[in-house]
Amino acid sequence: MLILGLESSCDDCSAAIVEETLSGPVLKSLVRRSQDELHGPFGGVVPELAAREHLLQVRGVIIEALERAGIRLAQLDRIAVTQGPGLVGSLLTTFSAAKAMAWREGLPWVGVHHLLGHLNAARFAAPDLAFPALVLLVSGGHTHLYHADSWTHLDLLQKTRDDAAGEAFDKTARMLNLGYPGGPIVDACAREAVTSAGRFTPPKFRDGKPAWSFSGLKTGMKLRIQAEPGVEDAGPEDPRVQALCRSLQEAVSAWLLKPISGYAEAIQARSFILSGGVACNSRLRAEAAQVAATLDLRLAIPEPSLCTDNGAMIAAAGALLEPDPDPWAA
Ligand code: KG4
Ligand code: ZN
Repeated sequence: MLILGLESSCDDCSAAIVEETLSGPVLKSLVRRSQDELHGPFGGVVPELAAREHLLQVRGVIIEALERAGIRLAQLDRIAVTQGPGLVGSLLTTFSAAKAMAWREGLPWVGVHHLLGHLNAARFAAPDLAFPALVLLVSGGHTHLYHADSWTHLDLLQKTRDDAAGEAFDKTARMLNLGYPGGPIVDACAREAVTSAGRFTPPKFRDGKPAWSFSGLKTGMKLRIQAEPGVEDAGPEDPRVQALCRSLQEAVSAWLLKPISGYAEAIQARSFILSGGVACNSRLRAEAAQVAATLDLRLAIPEPSLCTDNGAMIAAAGALLEPDPDPWAA
C-alpha cells in the first residue's frame, strides 16, 4: 500500500510517501519545509504567518515528495493527513489539500491524530515492538505520557500542567539570545559544557497527583540569567551559557524520566517509546536508553528527522487506520 502523508499542524510543512509492507512501513521520500527563519525574529511560532506560509509551501512539498519517490498521484492507495490538534489555520492547509486531492483522484482519505503520528514514527525502526508500551511524547506543544496497547490506541497517564518541555528549551534560547528553535542550540551548547550551573528544584504539587510542570523551570532560568551580568549576550561559546544549558537539559531529562519506572511496573510495560521534537535531545536519548536497560524494556526512539513533525509519521499511522467511508459528508 502506497500512502501520501501530510502534516502542517504547526510550523513544518511536510509530505512523505510511505509504502506499508508486511514487515512494516518503508520510507520512500520525506520533504519538509521549515519556517524557522520566518518565526525566528519573534522567538516563537506566529500562527497567522505560519498558515500563510503553509499555503505557499504545500503544493511544492507534495510534488517534490512524489517526484523523489518516483510515484505518480494515480499510483497512490491512500492519503493521510493530520486532523489535529494544532494551529487551526496551519492544519487547514494540508487538510484541505488532502481532501481535494482525494476527491479528484477518487482515493481513500484518512485523518490522523497528531500524537498517534508521533507514536507511529517509532514503527519505522521497530515495527515488531511488543505491547503494552509506555509512550513519552515531548515536543514544543506536548509533554504527555501514554499507555499504548497497540500502534493505534493511546491512554493518557500523565501530562504537563502548564508548559511543554520544548518551551523550556525555546524560552531559554530566547533569553540567552541563542536563536530559534531553542532545542537544538541548547543541546549543542550543553554538550560543550565543562560543568553544570547547578540543579533546578523540581516542582511539587499540593494535590500530590502525578504531573509535570515546566513553567517554573523557565522562571528559574530567568533568575539565574539575571544573576549573571552580561550572560544574555555572551553567546554559545561562553562557559556560563554552556553550563546553564547543561543544567536545563539535565533537569528536563531527569524530570521526564522520573515516573517511568513506576508506570512501567503499573502497566507491566514491555517497551518504551520516546518521540516528538524534544526526543532529538542527546541527553534525553542517552538517559532513556539507561532507564530502558535497567527496567528491561525494549526502547524505540525514532531517528531525529522522524521525531520532529513530519509527513512520514502521519502516513505510517494512516496506514493502520480505517479510511473515512464518507469524507464528503457535511
Ligand atoms: O515535534 P515538534 O517538531 O513540533 C511540535 O509539535 O511542537 O517539536 C518542536 C520542539 C521545539 O520546542 C524544539 O526546541 C524541540 O522540539 N527540540 C529539541 C531538540 N530538537 C528540537 N529540544 C531539545 N533538544 C533537541 N535536540
Ligand atoms: Zn508534534
